[in-house]
Amino acid sequence: MTNMGRDWLIKGGTIIDPSTGTLEVADILVEGGQITGVAPSITQRGIPVIEARGLWVVPGLIDIHVHFRDPGYEYKETIETGLAAAGAGGFTQVCCMANTLPVNDTGAITFYMVEKAKKVGGPLLHPVGAITKEQKGESLAEMGDMVDMGAVAVSDDGNPVMNSEVMRRAMEYASHFGIPVVDHCEDKNLSAGGSIHEGEVSTRLGIKGIPSASEEVAVARDLCLARQTGTRIHLQHLSSKGSVELVKWAKDLGIPVTCEVTPHHLALTHQAVESYDTSTKVNPPLRTQEDRQALIEALAQGIIDCVASDHAPHSLKEKDVEYDLAAFGISGVETALGVVLQLVHEGKLTPMRAIETLSTAPARIMGLEGGSLKVGQPAHITLIDPEKTWRVKPEKMLSKGKNTPFAGWELKGKAVITMVEGKVVWKDETIGESGNDQR
Ligand code: DOR
Repeated sequence: MTNMGRDWLIKGGTIIDPSTGTLEVADILVEGGQITGVAPSITQRGIPVIEARGLWVVPGLIDIHVHFRDPGYEYKETIETGLAAAGAGGFTQVCCMANTLPVNDTGAITFYMVEKAKKVGGPLLHPVGAITKEQKGESLAEMGDMVDMGAVAVSDDGNPVMNSEVMRRAMEYASHFGIPVVDHCEDKNLSAGGSIHEGEVSTRLGIKGIPSASEEVAVARDLCLARQTGTRIHLQHLSSKGSVELVKWAKDLGIPVTCEVTPHHLALTHQAVESYDTSTKVNPPLRTQEDRQALIEALAQGIIDCVASDHAPHSLKEKDVEYDLAAFGISGVETALGVVLQLVHEGKLTPMRAIETLSTAPARIMGLEGGSLKVGQPAHITLIDPEKTWRVKPEKMLSKGKNTPFAGWELKGKAVITMVEGKVVWKDETIGESGNDQR
């Protein structure tokens, strides 16, 4: 059999597939970029073998919240560097936010992003179009046009729609296309001028705070609008305990809502800001230990559906300034898996739930193919060494954004092979494969 780079026998790994609940040591056969076999022992001569003993073999990870800055801000990130970083983080698919220049509010920009990503040929890129023209919160963007070109959802992300009537119409319009409205929940009047969580640390440091209520007010409004319109909404990067309580209330009522949490809100609190390190400046801000605990528990219980990195690369000149003046954002796609795996090592998440939150749930939320290792699925597969310890070195990151609060951290657990439709888009230098194993 000729290997077009898309045929593999992945032998002896621990398969963790949340789509079937499978947790067992088995082999996976990949032919022509598709999964064609999953069984305790597969013999297939002439196909290159990936020796996966001791590794987790999981459905390709999916990050539904990244900023690749292309077009317009290529000095921060490009589609090439963003996809390379995503692959190194174990991600096989990403959803890109619309705050580019020009804003992705037309089919032409969506098309540009999709076509450029295809040329790069790494992880799959799915644009999220803007809700309103230029993300100004006034008139609705051409959703149908963007969906035709490949947009999987709409969001005004960092510039949330403040006018409730416009948001209501956006939800009604989006429902015609069967796409979710993806929602950065922030009342900009309440958060105006703030840089960190409003609380004990902001008072001590004399930095203007962003109250939890600025998120919770917007969460409550949009849950009410989702109930009114019946449109599916997805809430981004929840940061407060109050938001979790509201989502639980909505889910109990059957309101069509899903939500995400970022690795940094799971791992850090506002105490990290005491260093004045601007890489801790992010929107929504890092909050209290009580909030962090509530987010971890909600993720384990399924009240929070998934993890998304909110990968927000910035240049040094935007971060190497006074805290108040620094840009909001963390370059997170390369550390997301490692940070989430710390919760597994601490016994706070099971391996199955961790993979569900990073793959199967994001696929379901965005309606993407993937998130499963069933026969017949495209071979989007991530191999993870759960025991590999590694140190976060910003200068080694493939993203142009070196803005990480995890610099110097030792993390345990890393993607060692990232495969998209059977094509290896990332391989850790420590991993080998045998050419034509006859076992
Ligand atoms: O910290 C953030 N950075 N939060 C956002 O909502 C936007 C993002 C960015 O685009 O840099």
